[in-house]
Formats: sequence, structure tokens, C-alpha cells
Amino acid sequence: AGGFALLEKREIVPNMHFFKIRAPQVAKFALPGQFVILMAKETSERSPFTLVDWDASEGWISLVIEEVGRSSRELASLKAGDCIAHVSGPLGLPLPIENKGTVLLGGGCYGIGAIFPLARALRQAGNRVICAIEASSSYLLYRQEELRTVCDELLLATKDGSEGVQGGVQELLAQAVAREPINQFIAIGCTFMMRMVTEISRSLNIPTLVALNPIMVDGTGMCGACRVSVGEKTQFACVDGPIFDGHSVDWDELASRRSAYARQEVQALSQSVD
Ligand code: FES
Repeated sequence: AGGFALLEKREIVPNMHFFKIRAPQVAKFALPGQFVILMAKETSERSPFTLVDWDASEGWISLVIEEVGRSSRELASLKAGDCIAHVSGPLGLPLPIENKGTVLLGGGCYGIGAIFPLARALRQAGNRVICAIEASSSYLLYRQEELRTVCDELLLATKDGSEGVQGGVQELLAQAVAREPINQFIAIGCTFMMRMVTEISRSLNIPTLVALNPIMVDGTGMCGACRVSVGEKTQFACVDGPIFDGHSVDWDELASRRSAYARQEVQALSQSVD
């Protein structure tokens, strides 16, 4: 059978779903840091999701999908064996994989899944890789076992202190820096977390990359929905990103464009793209 069959689907922690999808063409060309745009049905909104893993020879990709709005709820209602109407990708520029020395990857929310392929590729390139993941409580942490296979050290933080350090990625970064030099920091998670950790890494003088998650519609640089300002330049996250220098991102603009107004604007755009 053709199509984008859902090979595996489970709720890994509340509201966070692991999807394994048959998508041979995406798997064949995927590189670390890239994403796909999914449409659960022909009439669904387009939603971007970072690739968590893939296998070109078996022809599948995997994603972690957080249930936050209508389109992710639609996806979450699918069951293994169902088909997804559209999977476009791989999209975006991959992370340049170089040996930087020691790299710390910070992940929160869906970012815990999204840092996996970056960690794997950076470690293969000879870096010492530290993964630092955060959640509100221990039962919301996931994929620790998978992450341990691709990093030298896994650090955990919870807001309530139920596992690891009390706090988040920012505390883990500060602790790591007190112990050893960090040559590159990469953060993936909600905008609030990325903004906060970026401020800390700036004060510590650590080169920082973030994977931005603005609203996206076409994913091809045509619609303008994912416009962000980075170092005074207008960039489209879908084609110029999603990975950018965290210290140059205009976080205020990003936060305001993710507001309810932007969502309505994008729904209208979405209809005109169809
Ligand atoms: Fe990037 Fe449309 S989603 S320009």
C-alpha cells in the first residue's frame, strides 16, 4: 500500500505523541535539524514538526507531536494503520555538522525528541555531546534511553525537583559551564525556554543556536507566515532556518507573531494556498 501510513503511534507522556510514519522519500533525504509539514486530512491546517529519527532503508520517519491546537489534536486522534493525508519534506536547512569540541544540547517539550538526531550526528563527528532535558515533573520526561545511546552524558532537570536538578535547561547549562568549557549550545523547545536560556548563554559567551518554531503554512518561503527577524535581517524560518543564531533573534517580534492574531491571519493564508 502507498500513502503515508502511520506505522506506530503512542502517547509517550500526557499530550505528547510518538509517531512513526511510512515516508520513504522523506527518509531518503532527511538530515539533522530538518522538519516536515503534516496534514492529518486533506482539509487540515499544515503543521510543522521536527524530525526525531528516520531510516532510509526501511523508509520511515519518526516525530514527537505535542497536542496543543486543533491540527495536532486531529493528528493525535489517528491510530496506527491510519494514513496521513500529506507529509511534505524534508524542509529547512540542516544543522552544519562540525567538530566544535563540547556541545550541549538543551531540550524541553517536543525538543526532547528533536535534539536526538542532532546529538547523534554531532557525536559521530567527534564532539563530546551533553544532552540536557527539562520537564515540569519526572513523569513528563521521555526518551532518556534513546538519548543515552547518542550522547556522552544526559542531564535531567524538573521544575518540581522530582528528578535530576530542580529547575530547567538554564540550571543544567550553568552547572555544566562551571565544570567544563562548552563550545556550542543548541536549544530546542518552547519559545519561552529558548529565549531564557539564550540570555544566559549570552552572559556566558557561549555560541548558541536555536530551532525556531514560528507558525508555518506552505513551508517553501512563499507565504511569509514564518517571517522572523535575525540580526536586523528578515528571514523565513522554513527556508532560511529553522536553526538560527539565538543571540541575534528578535524574540519580542517572534512572541507577538505567535499570538492569536497571527493564528487567524495564517488560517486565512492557509485557505488561499489551497
Ligand atoms: Fe515559511 Fe510560508 S511557511 S514562508
